[in-house]
Amino acid sequence: MEANCASKRSCRIFEFLESSIGKKIMVAAAGILLCGFLVTHLAGNLLMFVGGPAFDHYAEALVHNPLLPVAELGLLALFLLHIVLSIRATLANRAARPEGYQVYKGKGARTPGSRTMAVTGLLILAFIIVHVATFKYDVGGLKGQVAGQEESLFAHVLGWFANPWYALFYVLAVGGVGFHLSHGVQSALQTFGVNHPRYTPALKRLGLAFAVLIFVGFASLPVYFGFFHKADLACCAPVEGGSK
Ligand code: HEM
Repeated sequence: MEANCASKRSCRIFEFLESSIGKKIMVAAAGILLCGFLVTHLAGNLLMFVGGPAFDHYAEALVHNPLLPVAELGLLALFLLHIVLSIRATLANRAARPEGYQVYKGKGARTPGSRTMAVTGLLILAFIIVHVATFKYDVGGLKGQVAGQEESLFAHVLGWFANPWYALFYVLAVGGVGFHLSHGVQSALQTFGVNHPRYTPALKRLGLAFAVLIFVGFASLPVYFGFFHKADLACCAPVEGGSK
């Protein structure tokens, strides 16, 4: 495509993003950085097992960090870059494939994870929209409904997980995250050239182990607080007539 850009440099960036390898590299780089976010988010969330005060203290420190808005904008940019470029790369691949072309389905060619990348990607997007709307922006108005715990993010999260359908939705959604990562991590490493007959099988296992860890780690929260430890809410009865 003929680029109409302001300077030689911006032209080169534009051409890089338009090339198929450029898109792959950017999708992979954003994906790896998003994995970094998942690890830190999981580490923070696991504090819920330590207890409400530990989790709330961590959340408070995060909210008061002046760098938070920058980190949030960076995170949003990474999600958008990853989504938009992966959709464009998939469409370009499909357009380039001749009519009636059959993909080689030999050993190791396609895995359930690789075949469902678009579906799991869409599931994750839907999950993030619901997740951020309910947990961060309090759509559904559950915040402050637990007597004596109005300021507590811990009580807010527990309130949502007390709904078994909501907790189940989380388990399914983080299952989608795990499935997406089971192919995504090793695919990203291969894009960066980590591809060697000797090391590739080990890297594939590493990618799979990471995906399983992320799934088990995130799923443990809705499972435990949704189905085994709802009792924590007993300490704090809902505000009398307090529905919004
Ligand atoms: C299943 C367990 C999870 C729990 C308990 C959890 C908890 C939370 C909470 C409490 C917040 C709001 C923090 C605030 O009010 O500032 C939040 C924000 C967020 N979560 Fe999760 N989360 C989980 C899984 C995930 C997963 C799997 C993803 C990504 C695929 C994710 C992505 C996000 C994003 C993008 C935000 C907004 C971050 C921001 O703008 O500061 N979360 N999460």
